[in-house]
Amino acid sequence: MRLSVIGCGYLGAVHAASMASIGHEVVGIDVDERKIASLSKGEAPFFEPGLPEILTEGIQSGRLRFTTDMAEAAGAKVHFVGVGTPQVKDGYAADMTYVNAAIDGLLPYLAAGDIVAGKSTVPVGTAATLAERVTPTGATLVWNPEFLREGWAVQDTIDPDRLVAGVPAGEEGKRAADVLREVYHPSIAKNTPFIVTDYATAELVKVSANAFLATKISFINAMAEIAEVTGADVTTLADAIGHDARIGRRFLGAGIGFGGGCLPKDIRAFSARAEELGRGESVAFLREVDAINLRRRDRAVDIVVGAFGGSVFKKNITVLGAAFKPHSDDIRDSPALDVAVRLHGLGAWVTITDPAAIANARRIHPQLNYVEDRDEALRGADAVIVVTEWDEYRRELSPEHAGELVAGKVIVDGRNCLDAAAWRGAGWEYHGMGRP
Ligand code: UDX
Repeated sequence: MRLSVIGCGYLGAVHAASMASIGHEVVGIDVDERKIASLSKGEAPFFEPGLPEILTEGIQSGRLRFTTDMAEAAGAKVHFVGVGTPQVKDGYAADMTYVNAAIDGLLPYLAAGDIVAGKSTVPVGTAATLAERVTPTGATLVWNPEFLREGWAVQDTIDPDRLVAGVPAGEEGKRAADVLREVYHPSIAKNTPFIVTDYATAELVKVSANAFLATKISFINAMAEIAEVTGADVTTLADAIGHDARIGRRFLGAGIGFGGGCLPKDIRAFSARAEELGRGESVAFLREVDAINLRRRDRAVDIVVGAFGGSVFKKNITVLGAAFKPHSDDIRDSPALDVAVRLHGLGAWVTITDPAAIANARRIHPQLNYVEDRDEALRGADAVIVVTEWDEYRRELSPEHAGELVAGKVIVDGRNCLDAAAWRGAGWEYHGMGRP
């Protein structure tokens, strides 16, 4: 099927390449000329495992191309809109500028019978408003939220846990759902649930899923706070409660908390929208989820400062990690970088390393000292803090080897990803988050 994808950021670039890889003919459109130039060469403008391969394959097969010209959307049967909805500068709400611009730009090229499939994460109620603009063209608007995780984005797009389509009532909606079924046929054939619903439910599925995940992380981090004053171990606690299938162990990783381009801004936008709807109290707990999350960054800094008896002034501190999570070069709202910047602000000499995110981090925080090589970064450190659980630090760094490089054997495990007994056994002063 001929498809267009408006917006070639994280979501859009992955979606365009993934749709081409399952056999569709796809044009990706974005206003950013540099992004389009790079994608056209098969180069991903960000780090995402598997993406360069399917970009190249799609371009070589002739099924995938990228352009800055919106007119090239004409002729596609489905137009996916995957532009960003960042947090507004002066508050918590989602900035809808890019979604509105994408729809306005697309309208002249829509034909009767086309489907416009919104994928961006938007405040509930958006689709109904956008439909008023799309319907006069004879096209149908559907809301088809995206649940991809960075680092697993290609797999999550080609083989998602579920597909959701918010459609208008009646025959028009039924027909639109059938078209989407055809687009996603390979994954539906593998029994991926395809849930057809109304606009509001589809929009809410996305924000409530993210709110739930954020709540789960903050829940376990709240338990870490209690563990810290009682001598309990939050990781054993998470294992034990996680065995209950109703709870589940995933997303009970206590540490310095969640960051990235989605969870923080999405829970804030959800709170803002609920307030607009007069239901602020229904999700008031999300403010608490946000507050717990940010407190864990303070806690990590306090542990480092405490390890030096109250001051890190002129101490050499090596920070392992900058990305908001492993398998990503994304530093948006990264708890890792936040902790590094705060330690620097307290007068420490901060050296930071990361397998993928150094270039992005340096652009935003040039005041920190960046070192590509992990061992070079560790050399001479008075203390080490792990803030992103890359395998390079979690699995491939032995306490014995690290001990030969540093000046002081103090390690703060901001992700509870290290074997505490092994590090202590090798003579290190080990500090976890919510662990004795
Ligand atoms: C998230 C959602 O998972 C995804 O479905 C949605 O489409 C976009 O937002 P992503 O931002 O890629 O995806 O990252 P995710 O893997 O969810 O991790 C988010 C943050 O939570 C990271 O900073 C991670 O380190 C942190 N995290 C995750 C924890 O602190 N503890 C955990 O147990 C799990």
